[in-house]
Amino acid sequence: MRSTALLFAAALARLTQAVTPITIKDGGFYGGNDQFFLVGVGYQPGGPVELNQGVDPFSDLSGCQRDVYLLQQLGINTIRTYAVNTTLQHDACMSLFAAAGIYVVLDVNAPGWQYSVHREEPWTSYSAIYMQNVFSVMEQFSPYPNVLGFFSGNELANDKKTANTTAPYIRAIQRDMRQYQKARGLRAVPIGYSTADVVDFRQDLGFYLSCTDQDGGESDFYGINSYEWCGDTTFEKSGYKTLTELMTPVQMPIFFSEYGCNEVLPRTFGDANAIYSDQMNTVFSGGVVYEFNQEANNYGLVDVDPSTGNAKILPDYETLRQVYSKVSLPTGETARKINRPTCASVYPKITSFTARDAIAQPPEVAKLIKSGVKVTPGKLIDVDLNLAGHKWTITDTAGKQVTSPVINRVNTWNQVPSAAQAGGSSESSKNAASGTRIGGGHELAVLAVAGLTSFFMVVGGLLMV
Ligand SMILES: *[C@@H]1O[C@H](CO)[C@@H](O)[C@H](O)[C@H]1NC(C)=O
Ligand SMILES: *[C@@H]1O[C@H](CO)[C@@H](O)[C@H](O)[C@H]1NC(C)=O
Repeated sequence: MRSTALLFAAALARLTQAVTPITIKDGGFYGGNDQFFLVGVGYQPGGPVELNQGVDPFSDLSGCQRDVYLLQQLGINTIRTYAVNTTLQHDACMSLFAAAGIYVVLDVNAPGWQYSVHREEPWTSYSAIYMQNVFSVMEQFSPYPNVLGFFSGNELANDKKTANTTAPYIRAIQRDMRQYQKARGLRAVPIGYSTADVVDFRQDLGFYLSCTDQDGGESDFYGINSYEWCGDTTFEKSGYKTLTELMTPVQMPIFFSEYGCNEVLPRTFGDANAIYSDQMNTVFSGGVVYEFNQEANNYGLVDVDPSTGNAKILPDYETLRQVYSKVSLPTGETARKINRPTCASVYPKITSFTARDAIAQPPEVAKLIKSGVKVTPGKLIDVDLNLAGHKWTITDTAGKQVTSPVINRVNTWNQVPSAAQAGGSSESSKNAASGTRIGGGHELAVLAVAGLTSFFMVVGGLLMV
């Protein structure tokens, strides 16, 4: 049994290569020829603190192992992470997430004045110092195939006034990011923006960021932070119907970059059912529930004690797991066709702010784009999916310790490891540990396609066990 487990772990590692990078076509995300829907949660262990203490969400392998297990049991395929520090080592955690079939949408900003944009006076922060960090994040994270997208900014505009001041800067930053991507030959990771839950300018900013102009500053996608669906409500009453109508003419792929109102407790996450239904799935490519870790604002699904690393599963985690396990993702293509308008044609429609002119690129930024920034590029490495030897504990909602947690390899990009398959109780963890979970015909087909014949044989051997 023991040697089987070792073989199992060693074999898993190489398959990280099989994660398919996500691309955009029309109004949807795609993995190969099939449409991809984000089933996600926000993930920023430690919360929005400055990242100069030697840790960030992808630097602590032991924490990542615990969380990848918990995230996989939750049945998600994507996390959104708000800030990283590129001076840290991220290969092990990112490889682990890749092996578990979990994609990452990553903000290129971080707390601290040098690393974020001042919404009232963006001209004071848009500089080579700021862009240097943005480029570093791109340089380091673009090589990971499971990076699904970069957010150029999050909720920079929070009213009409700051929409007016920041909108041209969002385009300027996206222009620079895209130029950097091309100049440095990086993978064309989609670039987008995550907008605040403010009705006043949400559609207008979508128009403004979707249009094409000489600057090349358009968004590839639009993330919407929305907390409209509170408690027991409906597609119509929640405001989601209006939101869907408002977003239909916005010509780019759209998803919820944060959702999950907590004004009515306990949360029921009823919006997840609407988001993937045919009422919304032509416009929305799924969404990301706010958020994994419990913080003072009380949106958490899991409470992690930072001193021990021990995690307590909260009732909302169970609720969301149930909801996600019952959502049936759309099959086939539902994304609407997109015709990117020119900015000149779309400007007359924008009434909530008047800013139009492109922001000039500082010469120092141009220089950085040419020279590149010095940062270690990320790469996938072999990872051990066997969690034996972990120091932390996980306690379920009944106060019972989860025994023998195991991370399941997921190498088919469109497979959400549903709760039914992956379990979430100690009982199904046992199944996974004994290797029964790995026998899916689908996975074997993918292995064959990947041409990893020797690997195929190893797994084939294990299946016999
Ligand atoms: C990363 O950590 C270093 C060392 O502590 C620090 O100087 C830098 O400001 C940090 N970067 C970010 C983006 O927080
Ligand atoms: C909006 O921004 C433009 C410059 O981009 C400026 O001329 C105009 O006065 C601003 N409007 C408001 C209401 O702040």
